[in-house]
Amino acid sequence: MPRNGAQPLLEVSQLTKHFLGVTALLDVSFDIYPGELLSLIGPNGSGKTTLFNCVSGFLKLDRGQVRFKGEDISNVRPDKIALKGIRRTFQDVRTFQEMTVLENLMTALQQHQEENMIERVLGTQRIQQFEHAARERALELLDMVDLRPWQHMQARHLAYGQRKLLEFVTALMPDPDLIMLDEPAAGVSGEMVDRMKQHIRALNAQGKTILVVEHNMRVVMDISERIVVLDYGRKIAEGTPSEIQTNELVREAYFGH
Ligand SMILES: Nc1ncnc2c1ncn2[C@@H]1O[C@H](COP(=O)(O)OP(=O)(O)OP(=O)(O)O)[C@@H](O)[C@H]1O
Ligand SMILES: [Mg+2]
Repeated sequence: MPRNGAQPLLEVSQLTKHFLGVTALLDVSFDIYPGELLSLIGPNGSGKTTLFNCVSGFLKLDRGQVRFKGEDISNVRPDKIALKGIRRTFQDVRTFQEMTVLENLMTALQQHQEENMIERVLGTQRIQQFEHAARERALELLDMVDLRPWQHMQARHLAYGQRKLLEFVTALMPDPDLIMLDEPAAGVSGEMVDRMKQHIRALNAQGKTILVVEHNMRVVMDISERIVVLDYGRKIAEGTPSEIQTNELVREAYFGH
């Protein structure tokens, strides 16, 4: 919801994407305001991940527009979009398995460093300061999710839930303005679901804008301010958790066919 007349942080307008005969998204529009926690839900195959891919630049849009902080970012390259302040996680968890936990976190800042090549050539001291600060931040984030003891271990040694946490904090590393989480609580233990939920909540309480895709309705209903529902690539509902729980179209989408 708009707060104090704020402009939306992200504006998705009439987003449309087809794959060889499949309409993955059709005319999907919604906004996210600064500080909001918005959930995107819908049955399997309803287009949630495709929407993430379109917003974060991993897929080209067929039609429509994505604006971030008022700027048209439709079809901009994923690395450029990341630098503009959008970070995401992947449904299938994409940590660098052969790298250590700490190295995984540091990769999140690599692009920021590369952007500063001139500085890299001119000022070794500045670089050292940057690397020191980055390391401090990485350790802080690892403490937050209790992964510091694993900092020097290769990511492949982590349990699945821990890898999800690692991917989550890697996305937080550059302090993005918008963080997009694709099923952060899927496939992890009950205890880990609760931890993930607390982390997302805490992040939002600190003012971070978050877009979450999640199937676990207990989590969704608990954390969301607003929910957008997709079905067969169309937006069929948008509202507060209680509005969505009693929405007839949503019930039909989940249980009616
Ligand atoms: N790269 C692709 N090539 C062809 N079809 C695709 C591709 N990606 C997605 N699809 C199709 O687009 C539709 C939407 O898929 P998408 O992965 O976005 O759904 P989802 O809502 O994320 O589902 P889930 O809840 O299972 O993750 C599905 O019919 C899917 O099979
Ligand atoms: Mg998906």
